[in-house]
Amino acid sequence: MFGRSKVPTLKVPKQGGSTETAAEKPGAHGPAPSAAPPVSHAPAGKSPSAANAAMKAGDRDDEYYELKSRIHRQLVETLDLTALSKRSGEDVREEVRQVIAGLCDQQNVLLNYNDKQKLISEILDETFGLGPLEGLLKDPLISDILINGPKQVYVERKGRLTLTGISFRDNAHLMHVIDKIVSSVGRRCDEVSPMVDARLKDGSRVNAIIPPLAIDGPSVSIRRFGADPITWDDYVRFNSVTPEMVEFLKACVIAHLNIIVAGGTGSGKTTLLNNLSSFIPDTDRIVTIEDAAELRLRQPHVVRLESRPPNIEGKGRISIRDLLINALRMRPDRIVVGECRGAETLDMLQAMNTGHDGSLTTIHANSVRDAVQRVETMVMMAGFDLPIKAIRQQFASAVHLVINASRLTGGPRKIMSIAEVQGMEGEAVTMQEIFKFEQIGVDGAGKAYGRFVATGLRPTFLERLKSAGVALDPGIFERRVLSTDQPAQ
Ligand SMILES: Nc1ncnc2c1ncn2[C@@H]1O[C@H](COP(=O)(O)OP(=O)(O)OP(=O)(O)O)[C@@H](O)[C@H]1O
Ligand SMILES: [Mg+2]
Repeated sequence: MFGRSKVPTLKVPKQGGSTETAAEKPGAHGPAPSAAPPVSHAPAGKSPSAANAAMKAGDRDDEYYELKSRIHRQLVETLDLTALSKRSGEDVREEVRQVIAGLCDQQNVLLNYNDKQKLISEILDETFGLGPLEGLLKDPLISDILINGPKQVYVERKGRLTLTGISFRDNAHLMHVIDKIVSSVGRRCDEVSPMVDARLKDGSRVNAIIPPLAIDGPSVSIRRFGADPITWDDYVRFNSVTPEMVEFLKACVIAHLNIIVAGGTGSGKTTLLNNLSSFIPDTDRIVTIEDAAELRLRQPHVVRLESRPPNIEGKGRISIRDLLINALRMRPDRIVVGECRGAETLDMLQAMNTGHDGSLTTIHANSVRDAVQRVETMVMMAGFDLPIKAIRQQFASAVHLVINASRLTGGPRKIMSIAEVQGMEGEAVTMQEIFKFEQIGVDGAGKAYGRFVATGLRPTFLERLKSAGVALDPGIFERRVLSTDQPAQ
């Protein structure tokens, strides 16, 4: 991919005694067909011959983009891209590659072999994919792509955010890519609906918010799903959890305990929910409910439901709550709700309390204790007129286990706490922590490190696990250090 500094110098042969730049006069090709990304043209008054002599990086950028969009426009004029996009596979890509190569040769510009190949693959990416994002989407280590306007693209790899050299031509080019993403899931992003959630073909979650709400240009946040989702083996390998804790969680899921995962933004809630769900036996009928379908359950009997935003007239919204109420009529053995963040919270507790044991969900809270408070706040903000004590009672009788997922300094993600909800004492919900992570410090690489411990407290539901056929060795609850991170020097 071309970063700003890597834009090639375009050598332009003399034509009729004078040197031409690759920049094209505005309007020379008429309006761009809709399949080509909109581009800005070079300023009309620019002197062509002076440009090549002392070309500044910005000029080269302009010329390069101009050449690229000119070839792209010519490609659109040459081919029926709509028909082509219906055919898939490498054959079509190869066919179009040949056409682009031919168009490159017809331009009055000399490009070396490498630059030409780069140009061709960028045009292919614009035509068949998401333009400048294609290279990032192929990198399996990237977990998030964060676009702040056309000239600033950050990525997260292994918990670290870095600025890339990737950029879009301008706002219009970025908007073109956003349109491509959101229209593929039947949504739109414009002045009427300037905030939109969507999904890429590989399941990655996308949020786009555009001006005037996003002040510095369209902003896009992509939460990637790697080709290989994180598994329990990975969790153990990354020291996010210990095998004893996994064994315990597996038993809890099999025994139909109601579990809430609590964590902050990007802490790993959905990943953990997905992995907890993997312990649900194949014989159960599972209904999943999400805003943007992120869960990837492997079981054979899964019904996936996704909420729907309102249409342009503000009608037709189907909320998580609507779906949850509907799911209760679908004879589910398990209900998995991606995240409770509003009125559905009370319905979820009620479902857990009324025979839908074994349900799983996540909430945005920073600790297991905070989870109770968040639930209270969400129920009250949804306008239910319930005394706090009644909400706490609902929580205490519905939820068996709260797990806190956290992203610590420097990126490591840990299961910080697994706590049993015991009941109420007076006005308060009582919990006991069974396993926890204790941070010791931050190592030489800037990463938090610490140790997992079993607190020595035994869950009161051991009998329930036993009757579900998942008796655990009581030894795993004995007070001890389970594992300690090796800090980097
Ligand atoms: N234990 C882990 N080790 C390493 N990476 C992880 C771990 N758990 C999750 N991740 C990665 O962290 C990123 C965030 O994970 P996830 O989407 O599950 O978080 P989240 O809390 O649901 O985020 P959000 O608040 O945005 O919904 C993902 O890229 C995921 O692959
Ligand atoms: Mg999530």
